[in-house]
Amino acid sequence: MNRDTRREFIKKAAIGTAAVLAYPSARVLGANDRVRVGMIGVGGRGQDLLRQILEVPNTQLVAMADVYSRRREEAKKMAPQIETLDDYRKLLERKDIDAVIVASPLHIHARHFLDSLAAGKDLYSEKTMTWSIAEADECLAAAKKSDRVVQIGLQHESGGTLADAKAWMEQGIVGKVTQVESWMSRNTPHGKGQWVREVPSDCTAANVNWNAFLNGRPDTGFDGYRFMNWRLFWEFSGGNITENMVHQISWILSALDLDLPSAATMSGGVFSEKDGREVPDTIVVTLEFPQDVVVTWQSTFSNSHYGLGERLLGSDGTIEHTEGATDMVHGESQEEIRYFPEKVNRPSGEALTGHSRDRNHMANWIDCVRSRKQPNAPVEKGYRSAVACHMANLAYRRKERLTLEDAKNMKVAYS
Ligand SMILES: NC(=O)c1ccc[n+]([C@@H]2O[C@H](COP(=O)([O-])OP(=O)(O)OC[C@H]3O[C@@H](n4cnc5c(N)ncnc54)[C@H](O)[C@@H]3O)[C@@H](O)[C@H]2O)c1
Repeated sequence: MNRDTRREFIKKAAIGTAAVLAYPSARVLGANDRVRVGMIGVGGRGQDLLRQILEVPNTQLVAMADVYSRRREEAKKMAPQIETLDDYRKLLERKDIDAVIVASPLHIHARHFLDSLAAGKDLYSEKTMTWSIAEADECLAAAKKSDRVVQIGLQHESGGTLADAKAWMEQGIVGKVTQVESWMSRNTPHGKGQWVREVPSDCTAANVNWNAFLNGRPDTGFDGYRFMNWRLFWEFSGGNITENMVHQISWILSALDLDLPSAATMSGGVFSEKDGREVPDTIVVTLEFPQDVVVTWQSTFSNSHYGLGERLLGSDGTIEHTEGATDMVHGESQEEIRYFPEKVNRPSGEALTGHSRDRNHMANWIDCVRSRKQPNAPVEKGYRSAVACHMANLAYRRKERLTLEDAKNMKVAYS
């Protein structure tokens, strides 16, 4: 594909058409070739990922794109040799980039996802895969049509606890699981809401491409608070469901090999800090699955005592995974996974503790970019976890139990 046709491609995808008919073929990498990487969106999470990619052997970070000048300067300090760009399309035009890491806000994920594939790049896209179910459908279809390697930033899919849970399930020592309890809890000092970020003095219309950030949302004038705190507002975010439930629900789906939920309900509200946020801080979700399983997930932002965890309740045993601390980001907190037999069905069964090691999620992606194998969190896992999240949020907004079919038929996300 020549440069002009490629530009046309990117332009088409950028205006939101998913009418991608063919994908440019990328450079074929040998087992020892250096993988050249670009990054889109290098804020809080993007800077974590930047550090991670610098540590993966035989990779080279060559460019980054971000709409905020401060983030470009910060990235340049962390990796002085890279090109910094204010428009991600310029990054995708660079033919010498093999693979792209996307860590932009949720409401722009789909655009960056589709355009990266259309430009022939392999992709690491942060969770949640998309802001809506319609976008998830589009991204899944595009990924299936292309031959690109896609890893979603669901790093717990590479975790040792998931390997342990799957092994115990496969050994048959858990029996029939009909119910899963899961929870996640955090707290903050009085008067300071979870996630709220200060607006730096240089976060101004002159230093931020506000229009590119909006990505088609109605423009009511530059608003540094919304730009920095996009997580708090439905038009950019799915709240704690897409920030954190997504990790745990993906883990549960993988452990039990579940497909999409058949129905969802969700209650809660903005109870912890009434600071103008739209997304709830107190949440109870119920997801029903066609395989006769019900999963609940509860979360609060004003008590952190129980950290987070999942309990898979089986007829022959229980799997309990807990993390005392509340940090799902770095995976550095103390974590434990244990198995307890149900004496009624396994009288001589013994309690077990899991010891499998975490694998490096970023290195797994790079390995697959070379081998063309499927990474640990492929697009299907991104899709399933995203749809489950959006079903829950839609049920909350509608204040009713929502089936998968209802949710798929809704044209507007979070209306
Ligand atoms: N996997 C994890 O554990 C984990 C942890 C934290 C965040 N995340 C995810 O990472 C993503 C980013 O979160 P964050 O906390 O870093 O947000 P952030 O606001 O700190 O960073 C987002 C960056 O994207 C930039 N940006 C905005 N619009 C852009 C555009 N059109 N083109 C290019 N850049 C643009 C912003 O300037 C900012 O630098 C979210 O999807 C979030 O859910 C994942």
